[in-house]
Amino acid sequence: MQFETKAVRAGIKPDPTTGAIVPPIYQSATYVLEEVGKDKGFDYTRSSNPTRAVLEANLAALESGEYGVCFASGMSAVDAVFRMFKAGDHFVMSDDVYGGVTRLCNQILTKYGMTFTYVNTSDLSTIEPAIQENTKMIWLETPTNPLLKVTDLEGVAAIGKKHGILTGVDNTFATPYLMRPIEMGIDIVLHSTTKYLSGHNQIIGGAVITNHQHIFDDLKFMQKSMGAIPSPFDCWLCLSGIKTLHLRMEKHSENGMAVAKFLEAHPKVSKVNYPGLENHPNHEVAKRQMNGKFSGMISFELNGGIEAGRTLMNSVQMCYLAESLGAVETMVTHPATMTHAGVPRDDRYARGLTDSLVRVSVGIEAIEDIIADLEQALEKV
Ligand SMILES: Cc1ncc(COP(=O)(O)O)c(C=O)c1O
Repeated sequence: MQFETKAVRAGIKPDPTTGAIVPPIYQSATYVLEEVGKDKGFDYTRSSNPTRAVLEANLAALESGEYGVCFASGMSAVDAVFRMFKAGDHFVMSDDVYGGVTRLCNQILTKYGMTFTYVNTSDLSTIEPAIQENTKMIWLETPTNPLLKVTDLEGVAAIGKKHGILTGVDNTFATPYLMRPIEMGIDIVLHSTTKYLSGHNQIIGGAVITNHQHIFDDLKFMQKSMGAIPSPFDCWLCLSGIKTLHLRMEKHSENGMAVAKFLEAHPKVSKVNYPGLENHPNHEVAKRQMNGKFSGMISFELNGGIEAGRTLMNSVQMCYLAESLGAVETMVTHPATMTHAGVPRDDRYARGLTDSLVRVSVGIEAIEDIIADLEQALEKV
């Protein structure tokens, strides 16, 4: 199946009892057994649920993986991945990751004896020197949140294989329509399905996809043991969203490029981070591994610093000032006080995330309306 067909059809069959074309929302906590030890494949919804199983199969197919496991949020998916490891294990991480991931690693997982080294993985030469004897996984975002740094995934997969350590990629920003890390040799792919996959600002969800049976077994065990599962209704909404993923990502990418070019040409803007711009340091890598499209995430800085950024964010009218990304509505975010507020200021500055950075998740509205709104907000700066 081509990607577009998989988005609409993979893992989805008409309901065997009624023929319903859309998989039903199996809002049931438990399942009646025919006799002791004999169920119909489901025994308790924390362990598995028919609606969730359809979503897991669909996501696995989209990412060219064998197995998918869904969680209650992107963060609970990240938590489950790291809890496969143990005290004493070490991880090499992208230095620019979602602030919630830094918070989980530095403020929670370190309490259980795990250690983390953050490097700029967009420069592959930084990775090997950070690997220690007890390193178990290289964990990446590409493009990163919020600086839109891009890492060469084939290069990272080769380093992981050479050292016998796992590689994992948070593919939330690119989505499998633009980039499929497993096809490039990466072991684990993660999504906040809250974002582009569901796409409509309706749910919080997460998923992990892999080709390794042992990782799948571990993650299923985490899902059942910790119970951070999405509701059947949320799975159903996510499945509905995914059916138009390819159409939305085309429009997000087209609008993203137009907004990036508009911002780049604007005299009040000092810097634009967007992998689609030719002056992006890893533009060529992004072009190759993201199918020539660059999604809808942009971050930028204004000449007037934090005050100018604040004025702009308070002046948007059609675009929303909101936390989150990847939905049909254009949303503007201030990473320093919103998504990355949990990262200490010194750490943020060390990785280039200044107080004046503005992030835009470009939606699928008419590009004229998005640019007109940003233009009027910039006039007030
Ligand atoms: C790249 C990335 N990964 C993971 C997450 C966490 O996802 P969730 O908010 O669904 O827990 C986010 C949230 O913004 C994110 O941007």
